[in-house]
Amino acid sequence: APLDPFDLVIFGGTGDLALRKLLPALLHRHVDGQIAEGTRLYGVARDARSDDEYRDRVREALKKDADADPRVAASLEPFLAKLHYRQLDLGSDTGWPEFAAEVGNDPGRVRVFYLAVGPDLFALVGDRLQAHGLSGAGTRVVVEKPIGRDGASADAINNALGRVFEEHQVFRIDHYLGKETVQNLTALRFGNALFEPLWKAEHIDHVQITVAETVGVEGRAAYYDKSGALRDMVQNHLLQLLCLVAMEPPASLAADAIRDEKLKVLRALRPITNGNAVNMTVRGQYRAGAVEGRAVPGYPDELGEPSRTETFVAIKAEVQNWRWAGVPFYLRTGKRLPERMSEIVVTFRQVPHSIFGELTDGEHGRTLAPNKLVIRLQPDEGVKLWLMNKVPGPGGLRMREVAMDLSYAETFGGRQPDAYERLIMDVVRGNPMLFMRRDEVHAAWQWIDPIRNAWESNGDAPKPYTAGGWGPTAAVALIERDGRTWHEDAD
Ligand code: BG6
Repeated sequence: APLDPFDLVIFGGTGDLALRKLLPALLHRHVDGQIAEGTRLYGVARDARSDDEYRDRVREALKKDADADPRVAASLEPFLAKLHYRQLDLGSDTGWPEFAAEVGNDPGRVRVFYLAVGPDLFALVGDRLQAHGLSGAGTRVVVEKPIGRDGASADAINNALGRVFEEHQVFRIDHYLGKETVQNLTALRFGNALFEPLWKAEHIDHVQITVAETVGVEGRAAYYDKSGALRDMVQNHLLQLLCLVAMEPPASLAADAIRDEKLKVLRALRPITNGNAVNMTVRGQYRAGAVEGRAVPGYPDELGEPSRTETFVAIKAEVQNWRWAGVPFYLRTGKRLPERMSEIVVTFRQVPHSIFGELTDGEHGRTLAPNKLVIRLQPDEGVKLWLMNKVPGPGGLRMREVAMDLSYAETFGGRQPDAYERLIMDVVRGNPMLFMRRDEVHAAWQWIDPIRNAWESNGDAPKPYTAGGWGPTAAVALIERDGRTWHEDAD
């Protein structure tokens, strides 16, 4: 349904996020008729540029989407007509009064200010908006991760935003929460009676969460080298996934009902500190290798100097509460891994007694494999439930693991909307369910900071791994030491 006309202003309007994610997402919402006549979209940056010059740049960035679908192509020019460029500098007042007068501060009209800029600028933008009367009712601000680089800087940013805006005006994006498959996690868990009774230590052996990427640091080395995989991926995306798997059933879909439950999980994470970091974490950094058949340089070569920043992390996490006591959550994420693949694997416990004796299944060489629920976030989105089956045949009883396989593409067809499409429109609607509350961000850092500190005080440099491999061998040892293995799809 079309929403009332609104204004959306992207600070960092010529940046990578705006051109690669935000504007394509808005274009697709426009195609579906959700961006009403009268809506104004603005890209803002520091340099001088006319509306038409900006539109040319954006047209170029949207070409791929337009070429792929005639409906999108037909919507492109009407969409661009709603898009404007304004030159503003956060360090000076030039242009701000005119801009403020143009946007206006009607409390009945939604104004979204999307801060697609570095976190060090969040406070500055907030101050400018306030100084020019743009921070009142009707205004919403969207901030991208990373929120800070540790707990203290995140608190400083949140305090600065909190001086200007009320909490309900602040939308902290973690785009993983907008992914269809991630939303489906909540649907699966709480829309079915089947899983919840088994969803606990009594029946679950362990959980694995993998977010693997084939890309390196691309053009983002300057940001990435100051961040590393722990801050870039674990503090936000992986922990959010862990929360959705581990949280108690919320009483409703109300934003705070869900966020309260996620917060409890974050607070129940077993601290990893100097004492146990060596056994619970592995850091890696890629070296030259080959990914998908293409030779790629190592991280230090891309950066142009040696670095102690990790591009891979594996962690054995534990949620210390009644539901999860003793159940490890193995997390791993890295760049330049063999494939782009994100999945959550819930491995159930073995049957208490095998009536099949020592019968081995010829293909996998084992008796009974434990059941596994595999939620594939990307690509090939879907859900697989691995069950033991009898292999048909008149001979003995041969058992084999077979998957009940729900593929999104086959079941639902069509294109999967990008996470940002849902999230941006949720901001316009004022629905904070899929955004991080300030105390969640704080709690996540409280678990992350000691890990970082432990690495630093142990002098623990990342272990090299060859690009195109699954990270340092220590990451394999991390799980195999416990008698388990990283899941590999058998088909
Ligand atoms: C971002 C990280 O938040 O997520 C990037 O900063 C990473 O380093 C990206 O590549 C991965 O997102 P997606 O949606 O491609 O899995």
